[in-house]
Amino acid sequence: MNRTFVMCKPDAVERGLVGAIVDRFERKGLRLVASELRTIDRTTATKHYAEHEGKGFFESLLVFITRSPSVLLVLQGPADTWQIVRTMMGATNPATAAPGTIRGDLGLETTENLVHGSDSAESAAREIAIFFPGLG
Ligand code: RTP
Ligand code: MG
Repeated sequence: MNRTFVMCKPDAVERGLVGAIVDRFERKGLRLVASELRTIDRTTATKHYAEHEGKGFFESLLVFITRSPSVLLVLQGPADTWQIVRTMMGATNPATAAPGTIRGDLGLETTENLVHGSDSAESAAREIAIFFPGLG
């Protein structure tokens, strides 16, 4: 899978960091093939994060991810583009994410951790179909 799904989460849009985040991906050599500013509804958020349903943080994750617009992206690159993006994002908790990563450089809180990236080729295909069903 040479495409992956990325989301600049509501905190990234609110803090005016979308440009800085997209800049990193573009400078790395990944190409934008879809992009949209969209407020995610609760139904779509539940589908997207279905693997976390029932966990303690699920409700606060839904409230966060639906509170204001996100910038939704599909990025294209070499094989396993999802892995390149995950490496660039850094660990889930920005407080401990490595410097040089997006989360490590720009964030402090686990919920408000700026970016989402698909975590496998299967997730990439599933998430692209959820958010950009028209993309071939
Ligand atoms: P993402 O799916 O958003 O790319 O993040 P991830 O793979 O690094 O982390 P994941 O385990 O999939 O968790 C999804 C999102 O839920 C929030 N979270 N909060 N309070 C907590 O313990 C907790 N754990 C996860 C974060 O916003 C995380 O990105
Ligand atoms: Mg995840």
